[in-house]
Amino acid sequence: RRPVSLPRLQQMREAGEKITMLTAYDATFAAVADAAGVECLLVGDSLGMVCQGLPSTVGVSLDTMVYHTESVARGLHRVQGTAWVVADLPFGSYHESKEQALRSACALMQAGAHMVKLEGGGWTAETVRFLVDRGVPVCAHLGLTPQTVHALGGYRVQGKTDQAAQTLRRQARELQDAGATMLVLEMVPAQLSHELTHELAHCHTIGIGAGNGTAGQVLVLHDMLGMNLGKMAKFVRNFMQDAGSVRGAMEAYVQAVKAGTFPDNALHAW
Ligand code: KIV
Ligand code: NA
Repeated sequence: RRPVSLPRLQQMREAGEKITMLTAYDATFAAVADAAGVECLLVGDSLGMVCQGLPSTVGVSLDTMVYHTESVARGLHRVQGTAWVVADLPFGSYHESKEQALRSACALMQAGAHMVKLEGGGWTAETVRFLVDRGVPVCAHLGLTPQTVHALGGYRVQGKTDQAAQTLRRQARELQDAGATMLVLEMVPAQLSHELTHELAHCHTIGIGAGNGTAGQVLVLHDMLGMNLGKMAKFVRNFMQDAGSVRGAMEAYVQAVKAGTFPDNALHAW
């Protein structure tokens, strides 16, 4: 198997093959997900909640992201894994200036990430361009952006009104124009995600609670294994239920995403 790369993801996109992504926070789960055929691994700042027991992702530090990214990268290296590794820039690590964002991105790249992810639209476009021009692939993240949960007033669907949809669409275009090659859409109406996916030919939409019209899907690893400290989000499916092993659950997830049977649009129309 050849390593997953941006050209490979573009090829998949053009061939109509769905892109699969799961979060990974440590070496062993990263290696198992890779073996199960998951193309992209996200070292998400959701690790703040999943691994550290924090109330939100706001308290996650760059050092912590570096530690987990190193662990994931080492796990993949051990098994000669091919997955594309995306690491989250945590809250406060890219907000100050483009230069600060580049320094933080470099720390994650040096830890083994192939791409960094940052949340939000508008002001972030300039930062994305600065990073991409300097050789850092960037994944953007719109819709429900957990780092701004306190400003948004909770974890709920975004882009429901015409005006909110319009803003989201404009921001998505700006981010693609700035050079973002991947875009996570979290808790966005299925129809809007579907339309955005068609509008963005070079920026691959990865949905979570955003219907099945996106170029790919992502879930938090522990959620899809049926392990959660709090209330399980409505859009999550427990793939462990009918699987005999973690690897089996991940394989079922990959198969369901590729076949277009996860998510079920009817359940996630919002
Ligand atoms: O941190 C994370 O797990 C994420 C995904 C939910 C997209 O950002
Ligand atoms: Na995140």
